[in-house]
Amino acid sequence: MSSRPFDSLEPLDPTTADQVVSTLPDDEALARLRWLGPELARHNRLYHRLAQPEIEDHTYDRLLRELELLEERFPQHRDPDSVTQRVGEKVAALAPFVHATPMLSLQNAFSDEELRAFQTRVFRELNRTEQALEPETKLTYTVEPKLDGVAIELVYEQGALVGAGTRGDGATGEDVLHNVRTIRDIPSRLIGEGWPARLDVRGEILMRLRDFDAMNERLIARGEDPKVNPRNATAGTIRLLDASITAERTLSFFAHSLGEIRGGPAGASQSEILERLASWGLPVSPETRRCQGIEEVLDAVEGLRAQRDSLPYEIDGAVIKVDACELQEALGFVTRSPRWAIAFKYPPPEVETVLEDVGFQVGRTGTVTPVAHLRPAQVGGVTVSRASLHNKEHIAELDLRLGDRVIVVRRGDVIPKVERAILDADHHARPPIPFPDRCPECQTPLERKDYKAGEREILRCPNSFGCPAQVRAGIRHFASRAGMDIQGLGEKLIDQLVSVGLVRTVSDLYRLEDQKRQLVSLERMAEKSADNLLDAIDDSRSRTLARGLFALGIPTVGESTARDLAAHFGSLDAIRQASIEELVQVDGVAEWTASQVHTFFRSEAAQRELTALRDHEVSFVIRAEAPPPPPPTKQSPFSGKTVVLTGTLSSMTRDEAKARLLALGATVTGSVSTKTDLLIAGEKAGSKLSKANKLGIEVLDEEALLDALERQ
Ligand code: IVH
Repeated sequence: MSSRPFDSLEPLDPTTADQVVSTLPDDEALARLRWLGPELARHNRLYHRLAQPEIEDHTYDRLLRELELLEERFPQHRDPDSVTQRVGEKVAALAPFVHATPMLSLQNAFSDEELRAFQTRVFRELNRTEQALEPETKLTYTVEPKLDGVAIELVYEQGALVGAGTRGDGATGEDVLHNVRTIRDIPSRLIGEGWPARLDVRGEILMRLRDFDAMNERLIARGEDPKVNPRNATAGTIRLLDASITAERTLSFFAHSLGEIRGGPAGASQSEILERLASWGLPVSPETRRCQGIEEVLDAVEGLRAQRDSLPYEIDGAVIKVDACELQEALGFVTRSPRWAIAFKYPPPEVETVLEDVGFQVGRTGTVTPVAHLRPAQVGGVTVSRASLHNKEHIAELDLRLGDRVIVVRRGDVIPKVERAILDADHHARPPIPFPDRCPECQTPLERKDYKAGEREILRCPNSFGCPAQVRAGIRHFASRAGMDIQGLGEKLIDQLVSVGLVRTVSDLYRLEDQKRQLVSLERMAEKSADNLLDAIDDSRSRTLARGLFALGIPTVGESTARDLAAHFGSLDAIRQASIEELVQVDGVAEWTASQVHTFFRSEAAQRELTALRDHEVSFVIRAEAPPPPPPTKQSPFSGKTVVLTGTLSSMTRDEAKARLLALGATVTGSVSTKTDLLIAGEKAGSKLSKANKLGIEVLDEEALLDALERQ
């Protein structure tokens, strides 16, 4: 056999590679192994970071195969950071990840005026310090894209990647190193020289639009549901327990700032830091600009906005930072944000398209909601064909008609929304949207109910236990992560189980082990996947009372109410027997909820289900749990306060926020009144916020809430 030239990448023929590698003389094979490892790492970088591949994809894949074979032959010479190792380990649960220095957030600006006001604050602050400036000084700033992904911290020790965690509440996130190791953009070893002994790099993980589309195509081909937008897909992917799934999806990374550094400087300015990070092999955004003075900043922010739709990934604004580290230090921080940086938020992307039809969706509790079927259109790079229409009043308010041209907006949230109709000349001639009289799923006549003192009419299908849509949604809820957490029992599979009649109620799930033959005969199901599903169902038998109670899907009982009820009563039997008066004794349980719980347990269908679950030895139905821990004695700024939550929080659900506030001694109520001490206002807070302002009630935004929680 001729020896192979090492200066050219000539891959082996994959059909004979196995044989060739095993017959190469030791010294030759070892030399090839030592050369191929770093060479493939270099090609990885060229492809992903510099977008300048030198070899074809299939050449890379063949070389990777060869490296795998060589490593199999000489396992003792395998580099632990080899590109072949980036395929994904599995973890049992995500461990907490403590940030050495807290991960902060940025204050927002929405207009040029607010950006100028930012510069005024910067000058005012600096003039209070030794860094006083002349009024006409043109400060140097960087303008970077505000990447719409998931914040991450990477820890490098002696140049090797040893840790990675999500932001979490800023102090503690989740350890996602197993997933981060599969990201080809992220070097497992820094290159170049001069890196500090310990370097915490912060940045954003994101999914490029091209990779997002490719992932969705694969999901659809496998009969799974596509993801709604790249950010949600990234957030879900980075938290997966099984990194082999992460490795199938291509995530990208850009570094934008630093955390803890020990044993060496990282730079005297933001722009120098970014240059250094890039020289160490970390990707930084090529769209970053350095600007002199605020007018140049405004131009750069506008320039980036103009580029927004043509970028290969999503951005939701620009981040402006005072460049010099010396000035940054002098400026310092306010609560959780630096005074030296600000985020300029762009308005959410929108597109004009056509309302082709309106469908009606039946939810878990029978509520029928309209959904817009749109002519597919790209909104900020993502194709949208469905959008939420909320309810009849929303449609009436917009005066929507079939065939109207409409504006669709895709905010950070999951489902795009029809914002308004374009009232063109033909609008009035178009047919209004017909509302159904019968359930679109089971043809039962619909009930109309007034809600909010006649402000809104709700359509409901009363066939709770027979309507296939409600049955499917109920089972999905039962199996959901916050409920019985039955892994592998996804939407498609539930639809199949219900449509073939194997499952009609949740307790039927526990009967499936006796029907394995029918289970295996389902489409896309095999012996192994059936076994996995049955194991997961079996495993769910031991879930806690709080989860079980939530999983039952009692109207108005969310995760946090379920936790409160479980902690107060300790057993399902005690809750079943409780009177309305006893139920309202529970902190956080209002009268309406109490009556819903009471009614639920008295319904014949619920009694039948609970008996069946008991027969199947589902533990939360049978056993009492340890008594709840005593209420907190520690004084907190929330003790004894009446708090109201409103708007959308981005770092936790409202239920989570409520649970944390309750644990700190607050009473959480639903509406603002003179008795309210504090309003926590998330994004898009509306009438409650204006009422609180009118009443002079203290208002905390999400940042301030996180700050206060962190200090507990
Ligand atoms: S700097 C001290 N630069 O925006 C501030 N953040 O609220 C450190 N983000 O979740 C952050 N692009 O991960 C910075 N070019 C950029 C950014 C950026 C996106 C995220 C960041 C954080 C949020 C800040």
